[in-house]
Amino acid sequence: MLDDDFERRLIHNTQPVRYFFLAQALHHALHEGLFAALVKEPGLSAEALAERLELDAYRVGGLLRYLRNEGYTVLDDGWSLSSRGVEVQTFAPWYEMLVGGYAPSMDQLGDVLRDGSIYASRNTTKVGEGSCGIGAYDALPLVEKLLAQVEVDGGPEKIVDLGCGDGSFLMDLLVVKPGLRGLGVEPNAGSITLGERRRADLGLDGRMELVQGAAQDATRLGLPDGGRGICFMTAFVLQEVLQQEGQEVVERLLADTFEAYPEARWMVVEMDHKPLAPVMGSHGLALAFYNPYFLIHTVTEQRLQTREWWDALFERLGLTVEAVAEPDPRADSTGLQFGVVLSKKP
Ligand SMILES: C[S@@+](CC[C@H](N)C(=O)[O-])C[C@H]1O[C@@H](n2cnc3c(N)ncnc32)[C@H](O)[C@@H]1O
Repeated sequence: MLDDDFERRLIHNTQPVRYFFLAQALHHALHEGLFAALVKEPGLSAEALAERLELDAYRVGGLLRYLRNEGYTVLDDGWSLSSRGVEVQTFAPWYEMLVGGYAPSMDQLGDVLRDGSIYASRNTTKVGEGSCGIGAYDALPLVEKLLAQVEVDGGPEKIVDLGCGDGSFLMDLLVVKPGLRGLGVEPNAGSITLGERRRADLGLDGRMELVQGAAQDATRLGLPDGGRGICFMTAFVLQEVLQQEGQEVVERLLADTFEAYPEARWMVVEMDHKPLAPVMGSHGLALAFYNPYFLIHTVTEQRLQTREWWDALFERLGLTVEAVAEPDPRADSTGLQFGVVLSKKP
């Protein structure tokens, strides 16, 4: 059974298992605040760190030692972060969404492969939080580009973010656009609680409302002046409504909302579902992010579509595409994410 090359082959073939553990360990260490605490107070013992974070000291010690062996923490007199540990903090939102949000879904992969009538569940609060955090790097510059294109024509005064997650994407937008006000609508209660906390931290209480509800409630928001000065936004949300409620509900959502608020605009940000595009096998970000992203969307209650599919739907509804944009290529040069501004104007 054993040949001379066996151990080398064993190591080679189990690298995905190593990275499975590493991704989980990094996510939880980041999420529980271990990294941030070590930046603030380097040199802490595991016991002191655990006490600061109200965690179990024995298990914190085990996690720190594991991360040391993977090059993320350093043990001298006490614990600190290596340069790799400092660097990875910027990318915490990708861990928050893909690992925190979707590790539960991946655990159910066998079940949903066997039974196509059920969906894998996920941690929606972490998906919303991670998605908003990622958006600060890709979708936010894209939305800024979209707004710049319509500003010449009298830009919006208020963004109504339908499916806002923890609202942090909208808050980031309000911070860079001080003239804007915001209203975030989100069905998941945990996300609203996170959002209210963050809104207070950022001092945005006076400029942004948060309400619990579904995108389909948009016509009941009672917005004045036929929606003049309002821009609705759905960033990675129409894909959710599509699978949960069906295509007809997505079409009715857009059509009814524009009927209630004919002066409004609507920003849509979506992924272009091209899992077999040449870029998928050759681009580092396509392999690290879009490949798992496309997989989890086939097992959870969401339905991605191609850019052409969305364009055809907007055209059928008689909507005008006023602006089009893609992310800043310094953050995402795959061409797999796009945004449009829609209006009902002739
Ligand atoms: C991937 S997250 C996107 C969050 C945020 N828009 C962003 O840009 O990162 C999808 C969000 O849509 C929310 N959602 C799901 N169904 C919805 C519906 N029918 N109406 C509004 N939001 C919905 C989920 O709770 C989740 O917070």
